[in-house]
Formats: sequence, structure tokens, C-alpha cells
Amino acid sequence: MALAVQLHDNILPPRDSSLRDEALAGFAASPKHLSPKFFYDRRGSELFEQICLQPEYYLTRTEEAILADAADEIRQIVGPQSNLIELGSGASRKVRLLLERLRPASYLGIDISEDFLLDSTRRLAADYPWLDVHAACSDFSDHLQLPDDFALEHPLVFFPGSSIGNFTPEQARRLLGHLHHILPTGGGVLIGVDLLKDKATLEAAYNDRAQVTAAFNLNLLHRIRRELHSDIDPARFVHRAFFNEDQSRIEMHLVSRISQTVALEGQLFRFRAGESLHSENSYKYSVQGFIELADSAGFDSSGLWTDAGQLFSVHYLQRRP
Ligand code: AVI
Repeated sequence: MALAVQLHDNILPPRDSSLRDEALAGFAASPKHLSPKFFYDRRGSELFEQICLQPEYYLTRTEEAILADAADEIRQIVGPQSNLIELGSGASRKVRLLLERLRPASYLGIDISEDFLLDSTRRLAADYPWLDVHAACSDFSDHLQLPDDFALEHPLVFFPGSSIGNFTPEQARRLLGHLHHILPTGGGVLIGVDLLKDKATLEAAYNDRAQVTAAFNLNLLHRIRRELHSDIDPARFVHRAFFNEDQSRIEMHLVSRISQTVALEGQLFRFRAGESLHSENSYKYSVQGFIELADSAGFDSSGLWTDAGQLFSVHYLQRRP
């Protein structure tokens, strides 16, 4: 069967393949840390899809309900024949809520997990034969570039899931600033942002009873063991997630159960009992706080949708001249 998805492997900067370099630097740092972008190998992407189905993880179902309700209004703002660009497209599921109503001219899915990206964009092309489907494997957090057709002609960047929350506010401002740089005046960004709420609801979402989030977090160590020269034993670490109120973020950590030494690429790293490897931040915003952040990056707030419980927000941002 002919490939119905056009692949862009030269246009974007190469996917960041430096798990080795970043793990070596992160294990040597104090406190130890690693970027959450490394969660998303095939297994990690599958586990993330399962997280989205957990009853405690309200983000996905709430955002999907908002998008389904708002699709007609979004179409009125955006108009037809946009070039839709999804950042961190994953399973490309949420975009399906918009496609029939928005009727974009084309779709470009950008994701760091290549296998996953190809499977999901192929399924999209099969299910929406009228849509011109493109895929690019890239770490969009770093100097994203877009094919000219997408960047210049009626672009709509779709960035759902509150993935913007996995950047610090300063990094988020820089990422939006970069989108301001590559989009034409009037170009739109439709972005999902998780909202600040009570600590119990937030912490439950990252500590689901089925322990899928724990498996997702620990998969980072399985990946390091599999892909790098390392004897790290995931069973010697435990998942920890909590809300840091001062920073307005959920923090995820992998905490060493015991005092141990881990070999990584020929170097030895010591973990004290209880010492943690900080693996993710997930920042939570007030509606106004996010509008101000977007404003500081050169975007006007031209649309805002939330659920009745004010759990989650979807913003339509428009690039100012
Ligand atoms: C992808 N990102 C928005 C998720 C989040 O909620 O920060 C990743 C995740 N980490 C743990 N559960 C989900």
C-alpha cells in the first residue's frame, strides 16, 4: 500500500537523540534530573495513552469535552482551509474532534516518538481521505521550523493536552515567542492549559490507583537500562508525585529506595536512600495568568473555553503584528 502520509525529515531540526548526554549530565547534577521528553519511547507513549483513560486523570476527558462543545465556535474564528499543525501529536486523537467541523486543507503531526507518529498519522489519513496528512518526527521544544506551506498560508497550531505545562513558564514564553517568530500576523494557536485547583484533585491525577503513572515514570529507567550502558534497576526506585504550591506545579520524581551506585556509560553515580531523580514538572495556570504569559510572547487572547468545573482551559491565541 502506498504511504498516504508525507514525511518531512529534512525540514525540521533532527530529533534530539541525546538521551545519553542528558542522562549523564542530569545524573551528575544536584539535584539529579532528566527531561520529561525522554518518557516518550513507544512504551512510554502507550503508557501515556493509558494515563489519559484513568478516572483520576481528568485532563484528557475534560479537554475533549471542551473541544467537542467549542468546535463550531472555533470554526467561526479560524475559518476553513487552514493548515493545521499539531505539536506533540501522539495518538492524534483530540484533533479528530475538530477535523470534520474545521475542514482544514492539511494536517501536520509533529511528535518525538517516530513509530507512534507514523502509526497515528497513517490511521488519520485512512480515516479522513479528504485530508492531506503530513508527519515530522521532531523535538518541537527546540527551534521548531515549519514547511513553508504550513507556516505561511493560514496556519493553525494545535497544542493540546496542557503539554505547555511541562515547560517552565519562562520556557513556555520562549516557545510561544518562537511561534510568534515563525507564524504570520493573524496566525492562530489553539492551546490546552490545565488550571490551578485544589491540591487533592491535582495530586490524585498523578497518583492513579492503577499505578499507570508510576509505570510511566519508572519506564524512564527501563529505557535508560535498555538503550544505554547501564545497570540501573527500576525496582530500586519508587514513583513520587506531589503539588508544589509555591511553584504552582506538580513535580514527579523517581526516588531511590536504598543507598546504591548506578553505572551509566562507564561512569558511576551514587544515590542516597531517599534521593530523587526529578523527572517532570507540570505547571498549572489561572486563566488570567496564562493570558498574561501569552500576551508577553506577542499573542492576543481571541477565544477561551473552559468546563463548568473550571478544571481545564482551551485558549485561542492570535499573533499580534
Ligand atoms: C503530557 N503532559 C501534559 C502530561 C502532564 O500531565 O503533565 C504528562 C503526564 N505526566 C504524568 N501524567 C501525565
